[in-house]
Amino acid sequence: MTRNGPVDPILRREIERIAPPGLFIGHRLITPGDEDALRDDEAASIASPITAVRRASGAARIVARGLLARLGHGPVALPKAPSGAPVWPAGIVGSLAHDDRIAVAAVGSRRDYNSVGIDIEPAVPLPPDMLALVVKPEELPQIADDPLGGKVLFAIKEAVYKAIDPLDGTFLEFQDIAVDLRAGTATTRAGRAVTLRYSVSSHVLALAFSQAGSR
Ligand SMILES: CC(C)(COP(=O)(O)OP(=O)(O)OC[C@H]1O[C@@H](n2cnc3c(N)ncnc32)[C@H](O)[C@@H]1OP(=O)(O)O)[C@@H](O)C(=O)NCCC(=O)NCCS
Repeated sequence: MTRNGPVDPILRREIERIAPPGLFIGHRLITPGDEDALRDDEAASIASPITAVRRASGAARIVARGLLARLGHGPVALPKAPSGAPVWPAGIVGSLAHDDRIAVAAVGSRRDYNSVGIDIEPAVPLPPDMLALVVKPEELPQIADDPLGGKVLFAIKEAVYKAIDPLDGTFLEFQDIAVDLRAGTATTRAGRAVTLRYSVSSHVLALAFSQAGSR
């Protein structure tokens, strides 16, 4: 148990390992009652009436508010914009993600980062019929020996989408993003580049970010 509630100790270590300087990342085991953490404007901005969905969104916002406190912010509301992206306080960039069990958030100052995207997925292989949808033919050699390679690229591309959509407002398909795992970069068809970090434990955790001053 931490200030933000129940955590997965292995995931916590992995988060510490991949977090770049000045980007705060946290997680929480999604817990019954987390849906009650949604503030009124957040609750109104989430269309789904399904408790599990609202619980996961509440859990992610508990994590995000804990991280924002470290940047000197009070318990601000983080409603969803029409695009689906959370609305962050002025001067802040951030991203949220959740699966059935874990909620994660990443936040940083706009002084240091232009944008950030995060994704978390269970560490199980991508269904074979999704491989061709997610992975570009030229990316295949990077993941040839890795049964979780397709899932890693899936999580990375979702994180890239979350980092780039708030900047460009451009819908991206998986095939619009080219990932270079060795270089730790992803580039979109339009030429926007982001830096990548990822980890594989019980979950695949992917982070995409662009530092202030980069294109
Ligand atoms: C944004 C998207 C990738 C989220 O994926 P998901 O599997 O549904 O859900 P995740 O748990 O990973 O992330 C959910 C969080 O993403 C964030 N999010 C949603 N839309 C977003 C957007 N347009 N930009 C940035 N973040 C967004 C929200 O914070 C959401 O949490 P919330 O509902 O509690 O506020 C997905 O909903 C989407 O819009 N996909 C269309 C584009 C796409 O998938 N292209 C192929 C990959 S490039």
